Formats: sequence, structure tokens, C-alpha cells
Amino acid sequence: RSTRKESSAASDVYKRQDILYLCLYFIERQRHCIMIYDNRPIGVFDSGVGGISVLRELTSIMPNENYIYFGDSLNAPYGTRPLDEVRELTFHTAGHLIGMGCKCLVIACNTATTAAVRALRARYEGVPVIGIEPALKPAVLHKPHGRVLVLATAVTLHEEKFHRLMARYENDADIFTLACPGIVEFVERGIIEGEELIEYLKQLLRNYIDNPPDAVVLGCTHYPFVRKAIDSVLGGHAEIFDGGNGTARETGHQLKLHDLCASPDSLGNVTILNSKPEMIPISEWLLKLPIE
Ligand code: DGL
Repeated sequence: RSTRKESSAASDVYKRQDILYLCLYFIERQRHCIMIYDNRPIGVFDSGVGGISVLRELTSIMPNENYIYFGDSLNAPYGTRPLDEVRELTFHTAGHLIGMGCKCLVIACNTATTAAVRALRARYEGVPVIGIEPALKPAVLHKPHGRVLVLATAVTLHEEKFHRLMARYENDADIFTLACPGIVEFVERGIIEGEELIEYLKQLLRNYIDNPPDAVVLGCTHYPFVRKAIDSVLGGHAEIFDGGNGTARETGHQLKLHDLCASPDSLGNVTILNSKPEMIPISEWLLKLPIE
């Protein structure tokens, strides 16, 4: 008899445990249903109008978010400045955006990322800081043991951060680098096509015209605006990559991870600021260009 009693006590314990598990299961499900939304803006910035190429990817995958874009055209180009000057300018802009209530920062500039991403993360602990780097991985994967040409600013190419990235892939491809002073200035002037630009690119890419690489990495956020011109100078033979889409996807991932997503039914808006306010119309025009 005592055995029967024991087994019925044991089955009571099991029942209570089942109910407990069921409750925990429903609490967990509720927790997933009650999402906390955060409609504060995302701060996106660059040395000038180049970061608009990243902003276009951000607004295309997360149109419900609010954005404040800051271009520092007054101090562009960053890519030929000493590293500590770039770091100082980057900190100044980041502080400005945080002061405006941004919930996260997207450094839409390879040069500024190189100079300051680590220091900014340490300075603004708890605020996601997303940087951009040359999209070397997809370019190397495009054709095993192919030839990959990385175009970027002198600062990006000369710093340790890029050397470490290159070291990861140097056994998988022949990687060439080329600093491109001048392209930023064309884009800042709103010139993304035409004879003057083509002549400049022909001169810049002269060693690659007869022997084009398999892939080109646009390692500066200004360059996607002249993608077509670069493609035509290289005869359409190279596959062209940039880091804008990957950076936008990483931003989305970080927002989810930190419970910072805007509500899905929010309309989302973009505010464009520039240290040289006359650059705002060019920025708005670049933002509206279709993504190819
Ligand atoms: N757009 C920037 C980048 O991605 C830098 C351009 C510059 O100011 O030199 O590197």
C-alpha cells in the first residue's frame, strides 16, 4: 500500500512540475510577444557625402527607422590627413550625434572606422558603434585564387586594421591595393559621370585596363557613386563589391541584439546635416539615386 501512496505522491510532483514548465513556457512566449521599441534616431556619419551610399542601404532594409546623417564636407577628404586628426574629427561628430539622442552610431566611412572605431566603442560603452571595412571577403570568394584590386584612401590602406584584414585572405587571392586621392573630390562636387571623371579614372587605373582584375573592392564609401564609371573604364570585366549592404545588415543585427529596433509600423525619416550646409542638396540627390 505504501508503494501505491509513494507513486501517487510522485505523480503529483510530476503534475506540479508539468504545470510549472507550462507556465514558464507561456511566460517566455509572452516575453517574445511584448517587444520594446525604440524610435530614437540612428546616427550615420562620414567625412562628406560618401556615407550616403551606406544610408541608402540602411533605409532600404530598415525604412521604419529614423536617421540623422552628418557629413563633414568642410573637413573632407579625411583620407589624406594624419590619423590623429581623423580620430579627433570622428570623435567630434560622434559626440554631436550622441548629444542629439542617437541610439547607435554607424561610421559610414572606412577611413574614420580605421582611425576611431575601437576608441569610440570604449568611449560610448552600451551604445552600438558599427563601422565599415573594405568588402574583401566576398571579393576573394567571388573567384578562387583570382586577382582582387582594393581601392581605398591612403589612411585605410596604410593602417594596421587593413593589413590584418588582408593577411586573412592573402593565401586565397592575389590582392593589389591602390590609394585613390581625387575620387572623393569628384563625388563631393556631385560629379559621378562624364568625360572629366572617365579621363581621371583611366589615368588612375592605367595598370589594370589591359589586364583587369577579377574583382574590385570599393573600400571608400564615396566610390559606389562612381561604380558605373569604374566598371566602364575596366571594360566591364571585374565584379565590383562594396561594404554598404553588409554594414546595413550588421546594424540591423546590432539593433535586434540590444532591443533598439524602431516599431515596425513607424514611418521612419531621414535628417541630413552637413558641416558645409550647401552640400545638403547634393546629399539628398545622392540618397534618391536608385541602388544598382
Ligand atoms: N568616405 C570615406 C571612406 O569611406 C573617406 C573619404 C575621405 O574623406 O577621404 O573612406
